[in-house]
Amino acid sequence: MLAVRKLSVALFSNCDCFSLRFTTPCVPLALGHNGRRPDGSVAPTALRAMQRLLILESTCDETAAAVVTDELEVLSSVVASQEKLHERFGGVVPELASRAHVERIVPVIDEALRKAGITLDDVDAVAVANTPGLAGSLLVGLAAAKALCVARGLPLVAVNHLQAHIYACRMAAGLDVFPCLGLIVSGGHTSLYRCRTALEFDLLGGTIDDAAGEAFDKVASLLGLPFPGGPSIERAAKTGNPRAFDLPRPLMDSPRLDFSFSGLKTAVRYRIARPGQAMPELPLDEKLVADLAASFQEAVVDCLVRKTLAALDQTGFRVLCVGGGVAANGRLREKLAEVAGQREIALHIPPLRLCTDNAVMGAIAVERLKAGLVEPLDLDVYPGLVRQHGA
Ligand code: KG4
Ligand code: ZN
Repeated sequence: MLAVRKLSVALFSNCDCFSLRFTTPCVPLALGHNGRRPDGSVAPTALRAMQRLLILESTCDETAAAVVTDELEVLSSVVASQEKLHERFGGVVPELASRAHVERIVPVIDEALRKAGITLDDVDAVAVANTPGLAGSLLVGLAAAKALCVARGLPLVAVNHLQAHIYACRMAAGLDVFPCLGLIVSGGHTSLYRCRTALEFDLLGGTIDDAAGEAFDKVASLLGLPFPGGPSIERAAKTGNPRAFDLPRPLMDSPRLDFSFSGLKTAVRYRIARPGQAMPELPLDEKLVADLAASFQEAVVDCLVRKTLAALDQTGFRVLCVGGGVAANGRLREKLAEVAGQREIALHIPPLRLCTDNAVMGAIAVERLKAGLVEPLDLDVYPGLVRQHGA
């Protein structure tokens, strides 16, 4: 673990160096240091049968690392959540998130290696999510991955966080799920993708304003429920009536495969206090909270399910993969299972630990490695959603 400790020193003593650009290209996976002769050439017999990838994830507010083999066997998975840190602000504070990643990334890597029963000597490649996400958060994971690649002469693999959320279904299912329709419902994104292969995704539509998870978080805050809002609203909704409030379902009848949740959020606000009226003091009446939570959740689920069905019709796919934190929602899972059953669609939704951010889903990097997609060390972060093929 010495190399990890050295990395720690580098990260802490150079907090402003995350944007440093390295120009040395990475060596391809098959030429990793483990299989090299003393003169640097590769002895084919020395190549290990099994390759191990260290995968890093720091796109938002979870610092995560996993060790996965090229056979997609998960040797370890560690997630350090920052929920407690952001709770009192009712949302993720980007500057706090990136600072917390700096503190946690080395212990999290250390723990992932320890749990996998390996050292850095046994790692053959490093993968890291470099898009989309919070810029400061992404930079911490990328800087750590680059440092490891430079120090150990390892190849660097880029992971698209959204594609990884869909790949969580592949990891959970233990079998190939492509081609499929992909629905990503997270704190930052709500999008439908035509997933032709694990590496070829076309954006079919997405939210034109708030993401579904963001709406859950903001409505929870209006209702005086704790962050993160999704689980709080789901909990409150259990005792509420989903038909108590007739809330709008924006874009439901539009042929577009897009979503809009901002108006729905405002509608909840106006059920608590009419336009022009001040918001009442918290806590709100318990029944009002439960009924609004249930009605809001039902409206979001209706929108997600309706557009997903329209996208299945449009694409003709018989396989649906759902990923992202909101995919942990019990009501959404129930409704999707119901409609998928009626239409004989194969539905894949990962277990809860693979819905919210984690590094195991970054095993999509194995597909990239197998396709020869290794990155140079001047790889950058791309915080925004790139609305084009492969986004
Ligand atoms: O995928 P994720 O962990 O992080 C992002 O990439 O954004 O998603 C986090 C989002 C948060 O907005 C959180 O409120 C939401 O997922 N979430 C849920 C549930 N669990 C987490 N939303 C609805 N119901 C849940 N049970
Ligand atoms: Zn995510």
